[in-house]
Amino acid sequence: MSARKRTAILISGRGSNMSALIEAARSPDYPADIVLVLSNRAEAQGLAYARERGIATAVIDHKIYAGREEFEKSMQVLLDLHHIEIICLAGFLRVLTPAFVQHWEGRLLNIHPSLLPAYRGLDTHARALADGVKIHGCTVHFVAPALDEGPIIAQAAVAVLDDDTPDTLAARVLTQEHVIFPAALAAVAGGHLQIKDNRVVFDHAKPEPPALRVPADGMLDP
Ligand code: GAR
Repeated sequence: MSARKRTAILISGRGSNMSALIEAARSPDYPADIVLVLSNRAEAQGLAYARERGIATAVIDHKIYAGREEFEKSMQVLLDLHHIEIICLAGFLRVLTPAFVQHWEGRLLNIHPSLLPAYRGLDTHARALADGVKIHGCTVHFVAPALDEGPIIAQAAVAVLDDDTPDTLAARVLTQEHVIFPAALAAVAGGHLQIKDNRVVFDHAKPEPPALRVPADGMLDP
């Protein structure tokens, strides 16, 4: 197997998706190695989890910088220092500049708690309930300069129940986030996909661990 891709995870808070990625990457045949967890908030709960597992962590507080470019320059120094090849945004609540996004094009993944392109932005679960949709879910996508846009790598759908609240719906969606993010990172790090005309196309001829396989339609069954 080719070398595991050196991967950084950017977080701002709880870090449950980060934990799912770290756990998946403990398997020696997982194609990505999580070598850095970076947070813009010192109080992000996920930092302790990463530290306990011997992963390098860093805090770069965006508030001490004059602007986004300066903040991202500091992040880039750290990413270069750790020879990062792939970045996963896992609940990282800062908008990135087009320059940073373009620099990392095809190597920058984000998880979003909706079936994009529906419900970009915040409060996705409450908005889905208010609209009365029957199906909701989550998406892992390559990051493009516009908010919550970019080629979709994987999605999982959950049924919306009559008695759902934003919290109960969020919890079921989160369970699926923890499945599709490790699967999507494995597909990217393992070189199992290409971007063609803004769409992700999978090469299923390449062998990969079955548990990590993203189906041909990019949709994992809940
Ligand atoms: C997750 O639900 C993730 O999809 C969402 O933040 C949560 C972070 O939870 N991301 C966004 O809304 C980005 N637009 P976590 O810190 O436990 O992974």
